[in-house]
Amino acid sequence: MEDREWEIRWSDSLSVDVPEIDAEHKQFVARINELNHAIVDGRDKATVERLLDLMLMEATHHFWHEQRLLAQWKYPQRVEHTAKHAQLTAQFDRIMKEFEQADVSFTWALKGLYIKQLLVEHLLREDMKYRDFLRQQAKSADCRSEDRRAPALAH
Ligand SMILES: [Fe+2]
Ligand SMILES: [Fe+2]
Repeated sequence: MEDREWEIRWSDSLSVDVPEIDAEHKQFVARINELNHAIVDGRDKATVERLLDLMLMEATHHFWHEQRLLAQWKYPQRVEHTAKHAQLTAQFDRIMKEFEQADVSFTWALKGLYIKQLLVEHLLREDMKYRDFLRQQAKSADCRSEDRRAPALAH
């Protein structure tokens, strides 16, 4: 298959080490590629709109799911992260309105690509921050359990 530079591939570097969230992020990557294909292949506006609607519906559910986990993990920046989700959702609503009003295919295609870009940027910038927090937590938990083992080893 021809190598298409606009395709996103899932790699371990995108993992946040939480299987249920990784599964949803993988689904985004698949949706994003589907959307890219539709736009690049010149599919009609209704088809692209259906794909965008689906992607945004899944994004809403994913944001809610992530926020519930961030609260469970007591992630210190969860309020900021939730605000970023709300900001993205508002941006998506605005872009979708512009998308609906755009007549020229070039214009609505760009709107579709912009939504995709915002989602990818959020994953790479914001979601990676809680991944780093979780890794840090796991590391200090390891250190604590080694501390507890130390006296036992001394006997
Ligand atoms: Fe996410
Ligand atoms: Fe997020």
